[in-house]
This record gives sequence, structure tokens and C-alpha cells, in this order.
Amino acid sequence: MAELVDAPDLKSGVLRGVPVRFRSVVFSLEISYSLFSTSYNHLNNTIMSSKLSLAMCGCGSRARTYSNIAMDLDGQFEIIAGADPIPARVDAVRETSNNPNFQSFSSAQDLLDQPKMADIMFIGTQDNYHFEPAKKALELGYHLLLEKPAAQSIDEIKELAEIAKKYDRKIVLCFVLRYTDFYSKVKEVIDSGRLGEIISIRAHEGVEPFHHAHSFVRGHWGKSAESTPMIIAKCSHDTDIISWLMGSPCKSVSSVGSISHFSEQHAPEGATDRCTDGCPHTDTCTYNALRYTTDRESWLRMIYPDPIKKRETQEVVDWLKVSPWGRCVYKCDNDVVDHQQVLMEFESGASATLSMTAFDSGRTLEIYGTKASLRGGDAIKQQFETDIVIRDHYAGEIEKITLPKPEEGEYTGHGGGDHGLISALSGIIHGTAGSASSLIETSIESHIIGFSAEESRLQGGIQVSI
Ligand SMILES: NC(=O)c1ccc[n+]([C@@H]2O[C@H](COP(=O)([O-])OP(=O)(O)OC[C@H]3O[C@@H](n4cnc5c(N)ncnc54)[C@H](O)[C@@H]3O)[C@@H](O)[C@H]2O)c1
Repeated sequence: MAELVDAPDLKSGVLRGVPVRFRSVVFSLEISYSLFSTSYNHLNNTIMSSKLSLAMCGCGSRARTYSNIAMDLDGQFEIIAGADPIPARVDAVRETSNNPNFQSFSSAQDLLDQPKMADIMFIGTQDNYHFEPAKKALELGYHLLLEKPAAQSIDEIKELAEIAKKYDRKIVLCFVLRYTDFYSKVKEVIDSGRLGEIISIRAHEGVEPFHHAHSFVRGHWGKSAESTPMIIAKCSHDTDIISWLMGSPCKSVSSVGSISHFSEQHAPEGATDRCTDGCPHTDTCTYNALRYTTDRESWLRMIYPDPIKKRETQEVVDWLKVSPWGRCVYKCDNDVVDHQQVLMEFESGASATLSMTAFDSGRTLEIYGTKASLRGGDAIKQQFETDIVIRDHYAGEIEKITLPKPEEGEYTGHGGGDHGLISALSGIIHGTAGSASSLIETSIESHIIGFSAEESRLQGGIQVSI
């Protein structure tokens, strides 16, 4: 066993107040055990099984997605336990785990009151309940697969990073886009030097109107105090990607944005409080909640209490009569923005912009380098029927890069990133993964940019130094 070493290229091993340790070439004693031992000892807390074991804290939509993927990766993972106040959701994970010894708990607290029972705990509770269970799980000796956003403030995130360091644990943030074919290819092109020096990046995210209403008006992330601001809740993915591709610390941020549409004054005349109240706009309103029973049924699966049971239409309509997702989108208590712009300046001298809007669909990226420019993402795909277009400045040559299409039955969530993350997880925990690793030490930058952007937006777009 070699010893842990501090990152050689970072002064005093500290990145923005977060201690950094690399384990790229070394395994800890515990990980060595996990590779070669097949026994498991709950008492001494060190010996792991040859598979990595998972405990799921929160068995909601994300937990079920990752559980399904983990169990499809033959032999890599076993799921030991699940906790959620909604029993049907724990049952869904239990069923996926195919583990006769699976342990069910009715809350994170109940699970965390037990001694450590797995290698990794997945924290998939809502944004306002990541910090407490994450902290306790680290203290118990778990590595963490922690949903983004890591916590509700930078101080909390720094504290988690400190605790992870103290207990020699890893925190892998679920920045799934890093693990997609698309962003991996873009990163590869940048690292090859083909674009030259990166001068600016332009990123755009269209959330999609129904998705926006589902998640950020009616849904879990509609009120920032109860979750996180939009630019964190949704766009921490984008700020993470920008920071990863830029490869230079961000030094200042400014941002503007507001709710321009999803408010009472935009309600069409005569709109009822709930879509189930006989609203006269049922047939024309994009946001008609009754669409959860027809063409938007896939969104229902993420929020309906029982993810397994077959749902009858009338049952869903009755549920919409009382559920937050049945409310008119113009008459909710939402306070998060439906459009926002962020302007970033980096220590390298480069700059980047990120635009987020509810009223478009998909992500598009443009990177301008000294040798070539790169365009990619959904808008490029629509226009050129390819994934990435690179234009060389000297010769004016254009290269199109078309990525393989996912095969039938493959996991396509987040452009394949959900599958990519879980496939990479073992390597990240063992310290053998490549540069994509979304460990807290690097991915905290995304949160710093996001929280600074929100600070700027709330103060009318002032420049916030980081
Ligand atoms: N990485 C991504 O791309 C991505 C995508 C969507 C959501 N997220 C994040 O993942 C997290 C979960 O999102 P989701 O869509 O799965 O939400 P969800 O509401 O489906 O899941 C959260 C679960 O936590 C459970 N829960 C509530 N209180 C609990 C407690 N005390 N103990 C245990 N469980 C409890 C809820 O019952 C629910 O089942 C959020 O933080 C969200 O922002 C990340």
C-alpha cells in the first residue's frame, strides 16, 4: 500500500478553501481489501465484499435510476439497504436489488442510526436534506455518492469536504454530464490542443417548458429557500461542465434573471386554480396537468408516490386534485427564475456565458479557441445532423463528429450520463478513474460559481469576485 499524497500542482493542497488529496495511483488499505476480500464484517467496519455495496438514502427518482443501472452492471454492485418515508419507494429499490437480505428503513435517520453497512451511501434526498445525512454518513465511514447540489451553501459544502478528508472518504457528486459521450469527446478535443488556447465558452440550456413547470414551478425546486436557486438546482451541471472544460479557476461572476412568465398576471382569463377544476384552457394550455395522464406520463413516474403500481387514469386525476402538480402554473408559490444569464471571467483571462431559459429544449455549447472553434449539442444536432462541428481557423476546414447512437434498451438518461457515472463509480472510489471524476474537490467550483451568480442576480447583476 502506498501512502496518500497531496496534489502536487496545488499550493498547500488547497483548492478554494477545500483540501485536495489525490489518490490516482494508490489504493488505501480498505480499498485493497474491497478488491480481494469476499467477506464482510459489520463490526470492525473495514472489510468489504468484492463488490461495492450501496445503501440508498432516499429512494426517489434518482435512487431508482441508479439502482437499476447498478444492478445491470453485472457483479459490480450490491444494494444492501434503502431508506424512504414512502414504503413503496423502498420496496421498488428492494425489488431491483434482488437481495434477500436487503434492509428497509423509513427514514435517513433510521438508516444512519445503524453501524455502517455498505461501502457507499447514495444521498438522494431533496436538496434541503443533503448536508445532514451526508455528514452523518461520512462520520460512519461511508464513501458518498451525493446528488447535486451537494448542499445549500458553500460553507456546508466545504464542511463536507473537510469531514471527508478527516475520515479519508470520497464524495462523488452526481454531475452526470461529465460522463456522457458528448462532453467526454469535447473534453478530449480540448485536451488534444486542437482548439488552441480557450478564449471563450458560450453555453446554453433550454429546460423545456413542461419540464420547467413540472420541476421549477409546481415541483420540488419551485421555491429556492426550500431547495436551491435555479442556477444551482438545474444549472450546477452547466457551471460544472464550463469549469471542467475551461480548466482555470473562475475569478468573477455576474448574473441577471427573473420570473417573466410563471406568475399570476400571465394566467389566461378565467384560468382555474387547478387544471382539474374544469379550466377553459385545458385543450390549449401547454402546462395542462391532465397531460400527466397522456403524453407527459413519463414525468408522472418521477413524482407519483408509488412507482411500481399500475396507475388508473381516474386515480391520477384524483391525485392531481390535491397534489402540487395539479396546480395552475400561473397560480403557484414559485419564486425561482424562468430565465437567467451568467457571465464568468476566469484566471486564464478567458470568459464564459451561460444562458438558461424555460422556453427552449436542450443544451448547446460553443467553444472559441485560438486555433479552432467547436460547436455542439442540441441546436447543432438539429441544424447539421451531427454532434460536434469543429472549424479550423487556418484552413477553414470543417470536421463533423457524429457520436454513436444509443442502442435499443441502453440507458439514455442525461445523454447516457446516468449510466456513465455508475459505470465509473468503482474506478472513482478505487482511485483509478480518469479526469472526469466529479469529486467534491473539483466540482465544488460549480457551486461557487452558482451561488455567486445568485448573489449577483439578487443584487441587480453586480460583479461578484470569487
Ligand atoms: N444528477 C442529476 O442530474 C439530478 C437530476 C434530478 C434530480 N437531482 C437531485 O437528486 C435529488 C433527488 O431528486 P429526485 O428527483 O430523486 O427526488 P425525489 O423526490 O424523487 O426523491 C427524494 C426522496 O427522498 C425521500 N425522503 C424525504 N425525506 C426523507 C427522509 N427523511 N429520509 C429518507 N428519504 C426521504 C422522498 O420521499 C423521496 O422519495 C435532489 O437533490 C435533486 O436535485 C439530480
